[in-house]
Amino acid sequence: MTDRLTSLMARGTRFLGTETAIICGAMSWVSERHLVSAVSNAGGFGLIACGAMTPELLDTEIAATKALTSKPFGVNLITMHPQLFDLIDVCNRHDVSHVVLAGGLPPRGSIEAIKANGAKVICFAPALALAKKLHRSGVDALVIEGMEAGGHIGPVATSVLAQEILPVMANELPVFVAGGIGHGEAIAAYLEMGAAGVQLGTRFACAVESIAHPSFKKAFFRASARDAVASVQVDPRLPVIPVRALKNAGTEAFTAKQREVAQLLDDGKVDMGEAQLQIEHYWAGALRRAVIDGDVEGGSLMAGQSVGMVTGEEPVAEIIAQLMDEARVALARRAA
Ligand SMILES: Cc1cc2nc3c(=O)[nH]c(=O)nc-3n(C[C@H](O)[C@H](O)[C@H](O)COP(=O)(O)O)c2cc1C
Repeated sequence: MTDRLTSLMARGTRFLGTETAIICGAMSWVSERHLVSAVSNAGGFGLIACGAMTPELLDTEIAATKALTSKPFGVNLITMHPQLFDLIDVCNRHDVSHVVLAGGLPPRGSIEAIKANGAKVICFAPALALAKKLHRSGVDALVIEGMEAGGHIGPVATSVLAQEILPVMANELPVFVAGGIGHGEAIAAYLEMGAAGVQLGTRFACAVESIAHPSFKKAFFRASARDAVASVQVDPRLPVIPVRALKNAGTEAFTAKQREVAQLLDDGKVDMGEAQLQIEHYWAGALRRAVIDGDVEGGSLMAGQSVGMVTGEEPVAEIIAQLMDEARVALARRAA
């Protein structure tokens, strides 16, 4: 007999080709071959974070991940990458089954280029109107990610996005909920609201299989929800996508960086596009320093508010099993 959790997840597991409808969201520098294959081998869905990788590096990473798992996994591409279409070609050559387009609306032709090879396209929908537009453009599934999440965030909370988007869109296409999920209780709730599954990042960042530096992991274990704060925009002319990270000296350095870039704008030394690119490069460098080098003071410790529920280093399989158990208990209690 299929239990309620299995049937609530059925649409998501069918779409992903997995045992559970739990996606480990792509995390730049963290979501590489080891974590991605561990998640997929444990019945979840792993995603390689392409970030600023070149097509050659992505090619190597996909091949290395395939060597570690025969289960499905996907690739997350950032839409503003200057070689986006070359990266799509790399995914197609490897027959990657699912491609996530993150960081803005997909450029013209990108959805078609992915689907031409039979792969499924997943996009982030930050509002109901955009969810409808993406559906019309042929996107196969959506992620709705609230501002509780780690990394680059939108302005709206997960709970509000879920109420606005799930009742309208969940019958149209699979919708995965992300941001602030650290316990199976919340997974059960979003599934009951119509979600096809969930996406978690913070909860997986410090798994045994994650290559993140031990100091990065230690900072996560010590932190509570209130330590994961969103960056502040200092200049109204320079729109900066907020980033949620643990508060440290790097948070202050980012404020200084924004002032420096705003000054370059004032002096006419850079245009708006270049200014925003400089900000994004800053984040990528700062995250690398924290994740790879273990610079927990000067680097960026991107983390969501669910960081308080990350208390120790656990194997991915245990994290997934625990989330599934908690969701089952929650559903049973609600049905009683
Ligand atoms: C360290 C870190 C790096 C991230 N990098 C990316 C990224 O490169 N691309 C992306 O689409 N999302 C990125 N995210 C967001 C995650 O994929 C995921 O959607 C998010 O963590 C879910 O919310 P949660 O942190 O509350 O679990 C990142 C998150 C973290 C914590």
